Amino acid sequence: MFVAGAVPGDRVRAALTKRKRAFAEARVVELLEPSPDRIEPRSAHPGAPWQVLPYARQLEHKQRLVVEALERIGRFEAPPVTEIVPAVEQWNYRNKLEYSFGGASDGGELVLGFHRSGRWNEIDDVSADVLASASVDEVREAVKRWCREQGLSTWDRRDHHGFLRNLVVREGRRSGQVQARLITGPGEFRHDQFAIATEADAVLWTATPALSETTRDGTTRLLQGERQIDEELTVAGRRLRFKISPEAFFQTNTEMAEVLYSKAIELAALDGSERVFDLFCGIGTIALALASRSREVWGLEIVEQAIGDAIANAELNGVSNVQFFAGDVRTAMRPLVEKAGKPDLVVLDPPRAGLSQKIVRRVLEAEANRIVYVSCNPSTLAPNARQIVDAGYELRTVTPVDMFPQTPHIECVALFERRPA
Ligand SMILES: C[S@@+](CC[C@H](N)C(=O)[O-])C[C@H]1O[C@@H](n2cnc3c(N)ncnc32)[C@H](O)[C@@H]1O
Repeated sequence: MFVAGAVPGDRVRAALTKRKRAFAEARVVELLEPSPDRIEPRSAHPGAPWQVLPYARQLEHKQRLVVEALERIGRFEAPPVTEIVPAVEQWNYRNKLEYSFGGASDGGELVLGFHRSGRWNEIDDVSADVLASASVDEVREAVKRWCREQGLSTWDRRDHHGFLRNLVVREGRRSGQVQARLITGPGEFRHDQFAIATEADAVLWTATPALSETTRDGTTRLLQGERQIDEELTVAGRRLRFKISPEAFFQTNTEMAEVLYSKAIELAALDGSERVFDLFCGIGTIALALASRSREVWGLEIVEQAIGDAIANAELNGVSNVQFFAGDVRTAMRPLVEKAGKPDLVVLDPPRAGLSQKIVRRVLEAEANRIVYVSCNPSTLAPNARQIVDAGYELRTVTPVDMFPQTPHIECVALFERRPA
């Protein structure tokens, strides 16, 4: 039972919100008896609900979460879960933050922060974000000051009118660059002045007519600096440089991305002779880290801008044995096998929803000897792992990696090996 608003050890009265065969979801109605482990939070933050637990306890619970997901949802007896890898930084680690504007449309003061837990139309102001760096805080505060001075209206989520909607701040933790993207409804404002006032290296403006809360739709204009942000990662001893487009995914914890990808490379155990598929490859992070250890790498990703970045990133790092394609893994997997031949290793790194049964079948058809599965959600890794194992693979090891301290989220890297026929 996943209970939103509670931490392990609490006694609560909760209302069931979703009921599945292997698990259920609920939300807290009343806290009857707080967990004896609870500590004072640093500062209210809906994105950091586990800050009321000491870090050592967070790690214990995450470890258990992974084991239980594999046992209960995946029906594995004694799953081979290794000890969790703790985070390098427990606070201020996020390189991407999404803030929401609110307040001004009700005649109140403009605020810029987070949705109050469980409230889609109430925004709490943030003045120091416990998960962001000081540079991100500075940009957010500069934007807030300027927007207040200008008397701009904010998006009313009930009536769907108003101008300022969201602010996305992205930081290159290694490059030191900060990029701000303002999301508004349709309309005009003094964008040249805004760009200067933000104090960011790059500034973008997305205007969207969408009614729902989204930072993805709309038309984006570059107001200042470069469209792509620069970042670097050192993976298994090799330094790689990346350019990241606003539309492309990048792991939100840079320091732990290095740890995660290094673990994936260790499990891949390549000898240099292999053909590798990196499915859900984003801007090519894993593919480029694997390239020097394999014969050839083929990357597949649905977001075209991310594939554009991946191709540019291969060139930037002088890597010539990788090829990247834009496509949906569901439909592009068969054509990829026809073009490239069957892979020796498949790396999977899907979004939280995991893989559909059909995508798992497409991956199985490729008959790779090894599959390295990077997952940000043990409850979708578990059923996928069951399907893979039932089709003739062994689940060798699962390593939980804590990418997201102060939250219940946990990343895992799993290794599957094909059983001899
Ligand atoms: C968790 S991210 C991993 C990206 C990359 N491996 C990395 O570590 O930066 C998942 C990626 O899968 C992509 N994606 C989602 N659905 C897809 C699909 N059906 N086919 C191909 N790519 C997809 C997303 O755009 C996103 O870039």
